[in-house]
Amino acid sequence: MEAAGRLACPVLAVNESHAERAFNDRHGTGQSAIDGILRATNLLLAGHTLVVLGYGWTGRGVAQRARGAGASVVVCEVDPLRALEARMEGFEVLPALDAAARGDVFVTVTGSRDVLRREHFERMKDGAVLANAGHFDVEIALGDLRAMAGEVREVRPLVEAYRLPDGRRLHLLAGGRVVNLAAGEGHPAAVMDISFALQALGVLDLVTTRRAPGVHPLPPAIDAEVARLKLEALGVAIDEPTGEQLAYRSSWTAIGPL
Ligand SMILES: NC(=O)c1ccc[n+]([C@@H]2O[C@H](COP(=O)([O-])OP(=O)(O)OC[C@H]3O[C@@H](n4cnc5c(N)ncnc54)[C@H](O)[C@@H]3O)[C@@H](O)[C@H]2O)c1
Repeated sequence: MEAAGRLACPVLAVNESHAERAFNDRHGTGQSAIDGILRATNLLLAGHTLVVLGYGWTGRGVAQRARGAGASVVVCEVDPLRALEARMEGFEVLPALDAAARGDVFVTVTGSRDVLRREHFERMKDGAVLANAGHFDVEIALGDLRAMAGEVREVRPLVEAYRLPDGRRLHLLAGGRVVNLAAGEGHPAAVMDISFALQALGVLDLVTTRRAPGVHPLPPAIDAEVARLKLEALGVAIDEPTGEQLAYRSSWTAIGPL
């Protein structure tokens, strides 16, 4: 809207703040997406291959949790920086077409559409599980799945088996809707407190600071204040830099003559 000149008021991009991404997206979605998948399927992740499509903040969380539960994790990306990050975190990185034949569980977390589609379904194993933890029920191309399937049967609550003409069954969770909300309880309160604190302090900042219409980053001081409050609530103390340390870190002469 800003680019199109249609944004008439100032907006704070709270969802893009460091604290929101590092805690809500990574830990909240990471844990609750896996939780939703396990509640719906009662699968054992250990010994299975889980494919994460999208290695953003949420994808990182899903990949970490799945690895912690014993799954072999494959990451699919379109961004070279994110793909390299995943590789250096020790995940296997593959194009989605190659991953399609390998995965037992697929989780889309891209914010895009048709990330899993006919060409991927054609290669998947019998029994593969398809879950979406990204934005809407468009990340898995449901139209393709319906067009390919001869029969669709609910095999457990929130689990539909799409039987393909060659007999393979693909299990779609929660109709492709966001799996942590549809099959689980969403994010735990212990991470939503951070999000709501960011929003509350963001609103306070918006009404007390005169800003031009447009999208503005959340002031980093709010991120830091919310993290400080959360640490306090957790009973975690940290150190404060000494005056000398502060001076040293902000000085360009302190390391000595060049
Ligand atoms: N389920 C939830 O509760 C929850 C919570 C937070 C965010 N989300 C949603 O999750 C999605 C991702 O959020 P994020 O913060 O990780 O975003 P992000 O932008 O940090 O990451 C998305 C990643 O997906 C990659 N990507 C895009 N298209 C792709 C494709 N076709 N194949 C593979 N990778 C692709 C991008 O390169 C990017 O690295 C968004 O839609 C967001 O709204 C859901």
